[in-house]
Amino acid sequence: MSERIYIFDTTLRDGEQSPGAAMNISQKMRVAKALERLGVDVIEAGFPVASQGDFESVRLIAKEIRKCEICGLARAEENDIERAWEAIAEAANPRLHVFLSSSDIHLIHQLNKSRDEVLDMAVARVKQACRHTSNVEFSPMDASRTGPEFLARITEAVIGAGARVINFPDTVGYAVPSEYGALIRYIVENVPNIDKAVISVHCHDDLGLATANSLAGVINGARQVEVTVNGIGERAGNTSLEEMAMLFRTRKDAFDFETRIVTEQIFPTSRLISTVTGLMVPANKAIVGANAFAHESGIHQDGVLKQAITYEIMKPQDVGIKKSDLVLGKHSGRHAFKDKLASLGYELSSEDINSLFKRFKEVADKKKEVFDEDLEAIVADELIRVPQKYELNYINVSSGNTVRPTATVSITIDGDTKEQAGFGTGPIDAAYNTIANMTGTQSKLLHFGISSLTGGTDAQGEVTVRLGENGLVSIGQGADPDIIVASAKAYINGLNRLESMKQNPYKSFY
Ligand code: KIV
Ligand code: ZN
Repeated sequence: MSERIYIFDTTLRDGEQSPGAAMNISQKMRVAKALERLGVDVIEAGFPVASQGDFESVRLIAKEIRKCEICGLARAEENDIERAWEAIAEAANPRLHVFLSSSDIHLIHQLNKSRDEVLDMAVARVKQACRHTSNVEFSPMDASRTGPEFLARITEAVIGAGARVINFPDTVGYAVPSEYGALIRYIVENVPNIDKAVISVHCHDDLGLATANSLAGVINGARQVEVTVNGIGERAGNTSLEEMAMLFRTRKDAFDFETRIVTEQIFPTSRLISTVTGLMVPANKAIVGANAFAHESGIHQDGVLKQAITYEIMKPQDVGIKKSDLVLGKHSGRHAFKDKLASLGYELSSEDINSLFKRFKEVADKKKEVFDEDLEAIVADELIRVPQKYELNYINVSSGNTVRPTATVSITIDGDTKEQAGFGTGPIDAAYNTIANMTGTQSKLLHFGISSLTGGTDAQGEVTVRLGENGLVSIGQGADPDIIVASAKAYINGLNRLESMKQNPYKSFY
């Protein structure tokens, strides 16, 4: 019989540490429900001590989600652990996750503590956590750069103190599969009480090796893998959930492991995460990228038409990609609209459906056919929102090759409506100059990307911007059949996200 691999999803914690990926409480709840449908074993819902917002969202998720363990992260500090426990206590199966650096690099340059001090701290905090629950996970942070002997010592000590899952983070994505696998094997062979704990792997993708390292860990004895949807996370991200799940499903011949992931939910969940976080999935991303199942060359197309197995190792349907036979238009009703959103991973309240339906009708009036991508853009635009300090009322632009590009913009700022006109070298420059003047914001435009979501000149244009201010980076998105309006919406969305990041100073403190 296949051995079970436990999937620990940290999209809401490590994933949310991606620059610009901050989610609000209702977005986090929507993601948690999608993860439950996806069949993950553990949801790391957040880092409760980080902010009141993090605390509230973890507590709400702990109350509502019943089919997954709900985990709260805590540094090895008394107050962190109490706060994390308070947030998760009402979960059906709560887990406390305590972490503390173990590598000499971190001990010398960050903690200024000796190995013995760190070991004592780890044991004391694990004992404290175990007074609340027996479901305690411990992570020696930067494990892959900690010498194996000390790693084995700290592992034995925290298992002795009651930890039941020991996670070995490759925090900076430095490991390579052979050495990371050997490290896990060393732990299996040199920690006398290792049979009392589950070994977990947590890999970052700085060298593009996160999935390979996680697999090496599993081959050598790990039974929990920590992942995020679309591989989002700190810096280059984490091991991606979809890669791990499809690896075990597709290569059962090579590795006799199984997960509880409902793989047909992968694609809708991936779409939801990219819409909520504003982090677009690259077209060539394994499993969920737009090109993952697209065949371009004539030889490949010929083969796939004759027999899919010639060039396809997975079926698109297995990851939940459905060929859309139902295209919505202005005559489509509320029911078809609701069904379509459900197939894209959105389980929405009737209130949300009502406001979206109104917006959908407006778009359908301007376009003949409303495609899946259009609907996602509408959802992103209408629902996936951070608090709206700035709201765009209207924008009019005049431009051409004989006039100086001019934008007239009306914005409501904290309830006050303002109107102003300004110039630029082009229509978008005019719009952005005017908005920056009106809001008095200092952000720099780091990136501006524009794409057409669907074919044809009547397509929805989608604009993504990256804004930077004092070390904070936010992403803004906007969609509209008019690309100037989409650009203004994206800019305002980015400014609102920046504003909400300023209110959340703990977002990137480790
Ligand atoms: O990468 C890391 O070390 C972490 C820990 C907090 C588990 O995310
Ligand atoms: Zn991490």
